[in-house]
Amino acid sequence: MTVYDALFSRSGAQLAGSAIRQMGILAAGRPDLISFAPGYPDPETFAWGAYRDIADDLFRAADRDTLQYGPTRGYAPLIETVVSRLRDRGIACSAAEVLLTTGSQQGLDLLTRVLVDPGDVVLVELPTFTGAIAAFRNAQAALVGVRQEADGIDLAHLDEVLHAQRAAGRRVKFLYVVPNFQNPTGLLMSIAKRHALLAWSAREQVLLVEDDPYGDLYFEDVTSAAETRPIKADDQDGCVVYLQSTSKTLAPSFRTAWVVGPAPVLARLDVAKQSTDLCSSTLDQRIVQEALTRGLFDTQVPQLRQVYARKREVMSAALQAHAGDLVGWTPPRGGFFLWVTGPDGLDTRRLLTPAIEHGVIYVPGAPFFVDGTGAATLRLAFSATSEARIEEGIGRLAGVMRRAAAASAPSLPQATR
Ligand SMILES: Cc1ncc(COP(=O)(O)O)c(C=O)c1O
Repeated sequence: MTVYDALFSRSGAQLAGSAIRQMGILAAGRPDLISFAPGYPDPETFAWGAYRDIADDLFRAADRDTLQYGPTRGYAPLIETVVSRLRDRGIACSAAEVLLTTGSQQGLDLLTRVLVDPGDVVLVELPTFTGAIAAFRNAQAALVGVRQEADGIDLAHLDEVLHAQRAAGRRVKFLYVVPNFQNPTGLLMSIAKRHALLAWSAREQVLLVEDDPYGDLYFEDVTSAAETRPIKADDQDGCVVYLQSTSKTLAPSFRTAWVVGPAPVLARLDVAKQSTDLCSSTLDQRIVQEALTRGLFDTQVPQLRQVYARKREVMSAALQAHAGDLVGWTPPRGGFFLWVTGPDGLDTRRLLTPAIEHGVIYVPGAPFFVDGTGAATLRLAFSATSEARIEEGIGRLAGVMRRAAAASAPSLPQATR
């Protein structure tokens, strides 16, 4: 309690932080700590030379607009580039259907502000991205979880949940999904489920919010780009709002992402953004535009796929070697995350303090679940850590788990794969 508490608005007082950001604070100032917590890209992959050239060219050209405020919608040439690149992924849209945002996180926040009244239901996967949970909670949405299967959302459970909510007289506003290498599970939703979800959305008149920051980062065993085809690509009826970001491919510091959706929704988002930040950074958007049009993105991405596929291998092999008998996981086919399930009765939140004492940090799974489950799960990001440190960190983590298992019941059940 502080003397300021009485000043906070109801919504200000109940603002929820992101669990992952809190892990970042715990890890700050501890270089010895091996962090598998935040979903950061590998800093070794940042294309310093190319950005130096781009920035140099932009500053030498001294176009006044480079350092000026820009339109709220975003830098028009970048919007055109986005429209054309989305076409390559099967999404046909016009500039009126695109809004550039300060990261996809802002897109999620703006969307919730324009779509959700307090008490409206937002459906999410169990588990789902904590940044989305925070944005939805802060708009006082009622969050309701839908189970996942190995190939994505459980459609039967989705129907069940929707009908139960409607029977209780609640308004269901949208379903939030991350079909490509989901954060936190790494799951890839099957094409059949994507089609079924789109049909469900049209039939039930519930908007789909499709968040796709990892779709470009598929590994060698995803044989066809068709497997990561956005749901939005088949959306003829304006059922889907699609978000894409350059954070996981170019660099998160540019904070450049976009929302694509029906023009009337986008128009409301534009107004909401005006009072948030007037416009995203003009300089960042110009750098991203150059990175896309000069071919940097297209040369970077295949290299990133190799880097992250290799790290996924290293982490998976280390887990197998050190903790294969303790926990289960399915190696992801893309993205940044390996999702681990321990034996029933394990609470990974309780392991966090000993893990930090032994120099390793991860994100406990529970904050990704809106229904209070998930205690036995945890998320490991393999993206930012070097291969040598991944091996070392998994060894440390396995040691912590093994000591906890030995200290608890003598017959702690073994995990199933
Ligand atoms: C699923 C998902 N959506 C959105 C974001 C936010 O990305 P951005 O950096 O574009 O705000 C992340 C970042 O981790 C994410 O994993």
